[in-house]
This record gives sequence, structure tokens and C-alpha cells, in this order.
Amino acid sequence: MSDTTRKPVLFSGIQPSGHITLGNFIGSMRNFTLLEKDYDCLFSIVDLHALTVRQNPAVLRSNTLELAALYIACGLNPEESIIYCQSHVPQHAELAWILNCFTYMGELGRMTQFKDKSRKHSDNINAGLFTYPVLMAADILLYQANLVPVGADQKQHLEITRDIAQRFNALHPGVFVVPEPHIPKETAKIMSLTEPEKKMSKSDPEDSLVSMLDKPEVVRRKLRRAVTDSDGEIRFDPENKPGVSNLLAILSVLSGESMDALTTRLSGQGYGKLKEETAEVVVATLEPIQARYQALMADKAYMADTLKRNAERAQYLALRTLRKVYKKLGLYQP
Ligand code: TYM
Repeated sequence: MSDTTRKPVLFSGIQPSGHITLGNFIGSMRNFTLLEKDYDCLFSIVDLHALTVRQNPAVLRSNTLELAALYIACGLNPEESIIYCQSHVPQHAELAWILNCFTYMGELGRMTQFKDKSRKHSDNINAGLFTYPVLMAADILLYQANLVPVGADQKQHLEITRDIAQRFNALHPGVFVVPEPHIPKETAKIMSLTEPEKKMSKSDPEDSLVSMLDKPEVVRRKLRRAVTDSDGEIRFDPENKPGVSNLLAILSVLSGESMDALTTRLSGQGYGKLKEETAEVVVATLEPIQARYQALMADKAYMADTLKRNAERAQYLALRTLRKVYKKLGLYQP
């Protein structure tokens, strides 16, 4: 990304709150690699967001580096795109404070992720969990992002980001770009392997997900055990056949074979065949990524230097927006 931005801006983030899953890859990372060349991109490791649920400090540190290496291992270029840690750019938290003053309690209370996480972490319903979407809005608006590729679970957070931007702009015209979400239907929601009516989630039990770093044998075993149904028919019908449809979706996206061609070809075959083909395409996708990942993790100095340099690039852009915001709001700037 050059300092004088010419392409439209793309921003997205992933929390280092666990091992990155196949759901994260298909729903977001893979789309980042497809979009990278047409945008000036920022890909953040949103470590401040991860603090909204309790983290083990050593594990958080190691997950952060793992995610940074995976971004690069997937094919993103840290000399072009800005790959960095959210906490290295203090302007995120500063803008979040400002935007808190432009966000209503009622709209935050309606966020389904807040309701879900409050249920899941009933002993720790902290204010950060409540204002989580405001920090996310700050992430995006700080860089004047045009496009935000995410999975379907983040749609509501993108809507509130747009509302906050429009509300702010109505009072202080021309400050923020109002971002567009990018949520392709085919990749929007990869489901759990053990409970296919739920999305695959980093914080769920091991058997329910494929981790980006799972060894081929582990991938094969998990997919062999994936929950399907008892009617034996290979058909794409997410409502009535969530398990089979999820395998078909993974297979179709990763192989590039259209859903129609795939279901026609596999019709009349058993679920064993579907599981085996899905496992093989997942293994073939992950193997080169894992090889690059291992090489990157072996070079900690390169990783540290890359993250440091990229945080500086992000800060330069972030400061431009923040200064404008402070000025518009009347905060005295000597
Ligand atoms: P996170 O860390 O939960 O997930 C990262 C990205 O992966 C997508 N995703 C999925 N897509 C399809 N199927 C699934 N099973 C699946 N699970 C996760 C998510 O939709 C997301 O795109 N709040 C965000 C992180 C964030 C962010 C941002 C994103 C913070 N600031 C600014 C975009 C822009 C989150 O928790 O993602």
C-alpha cells in the first residue's frame, strides 16, 4: 500500500482467540487473497477484541504470531498489504472512545453476538463485550475502508459500523467513508462438523472444526467422523441436510467445481465418497500453507520486523483520520 492511496481500501480482521479454522479460512482469509491485488489492503490481528473474553497470556501471544504467519502463508504479501497487530496502533482504541459517544446502548444491546457471548460467558459479561462492535467500527473507519470482507456472522457488525459512520457524517460531513460488506454467499458460513446447524467456531471443541494447522491424518479423521444424516442422498439442502450441504460447500469452494456439477457427479454415491473427496481437497489446500507457515515461524526475527514495520505503516494512515476527527469535534490541537 502506498502512502498516496489510489486503489480502494479493504480492511478486515481476525481475532487471535484460538487456532484459526477452516471456517475462518473459507469465510475470510481465502477471500482476502482473491481480492488483494485490486485493493489497498489492511489485515489486522485484532488482539484487543480477543480480550473481551478471558485469554491465557502465553497462549494469546502465541496465537497472535500464528495468525500473522498464517496471513502470510496463505499468500498475502506483507510488503504490499499492511498485516499488523491492532494493539500496536493505539489509534484504534482512541477512535473507539470517540465512536462510543456516537453509539446508542439500545443498538449495542440488539447485537446477536453480544447476546450469544453473554450466554456463553455468563460469569464475565464485561463492558468490552458490549462495546465490541464500536472497536470494530473504529478499526474499519480509521482507514477509510471501502470494502470489508467477512463471514455472515459479522454482517450485523458491519451494519452498525455503517450506521455509526453515517451518524457521525451527518453532524460532521465528509469525515468517514461508509464501508460496504463483502460476504459471498458460498463462503458465508461454514458449519461445525459435529453440530452442523451451528457455525464452525475457533472456541468450540476440537472435533467440531478443522484447524489450519491440522495434520493430514487429523483432517481425514475429523471429516470421516463429520455428522451427516440418514437418508443417504447427496443433495445441497442446507435447511434439511446441514451436514451433507456443509461438506458439499467446502468441497465446491476449494475444488472450484460448481455445486451443480458436483451434486450431479456424486449423486447415487455414498457419504463415504463425499467425505473422502472433501478431506483430500482440504489436505491439498492446507499442505502448502502449512509448509510456508513452518518456514515463517522458524524465522521469528523476520516476523517481528514485519509486524513492526507494518504497524508503522498502519499508524501513519490511522493518524491522518484521527487528527481529522479530533479537529472536527473541537478538541484543541496546539
Ligand atoms: P473472527 O475472528 O470470529 O473470525 C474471522 C473471520 O472469519 C469469519 N468466520 C467464518 N466464516 C465462515 N464460516 C465460519 N464458520 C466462520 N467463522 C468465522 C468471520 O466472519 C470473520 O470474517 N469481529 C471479527 C473480527 C474483527 C473484524 C474487524 C472483522 C474485528 N474488527 C473489522 C472485519 C473488520 C471476528 O470476531 O472475527
